[in-house]
Amino acid sequence: MQVSSEQLLAIEQIVNKYRDFSGAAIPILQEIQNQLGYVSPQFIDKVSELTEIPASELYGIVTFYSQFRLEPIGEHHIQICHGTACHLAGADKIIEAFESSTGTKCGATSKDGKFTLDKVACIGCCSLAPVISVNGKIYGRMTAEKAQKLVREL
Ligand code: FES
Repeated sequence: MQVSSEQLLAIEQIVNKYRDFSGAAIPILQEIQNQLGYVSPQFIDKVSELTEIPASELYGIVTFYSQFRLEPIGEHHIQICHGTACHLAGADKIIEAFESSTGTKCGATSKDGKFTLDKVACIGCCSLAPVISVNGKIYGRMTAEKAQKLVREL
């Protein structure tokens, strides 16, 4: 994936902002994630080139913290709650249903770019467990069948 001129400009501006700070790797990566939505390997190479922080160190950070994403989010961002109430209500079955019907794994995006699956902590609707959200819209009392139907509709 190429770095577009807009992305490059954003990365340069972020790096410049932290030029005088040592230990700025995490804030730089966080700001790239916030502004561009993900931190691709190409972005990491650019940051490394501009800051002289080894790319291996930047990769280490991005792969260690779950807040970072190495690829753009798909058209439909499906977040499956795995808080205590949802876990007890069968969140694992919901995850399996979404993984098999979208052909992708939690934490990844389907090859066609349509679906991104993520496992998340409590999203605050425990009485509706198990709960998921799609692009911010909440769906409660999920079942494997409802999950498969939802993917077909999307
Ligand atoms: S545990 Fe899932 S919404 Fe609270």
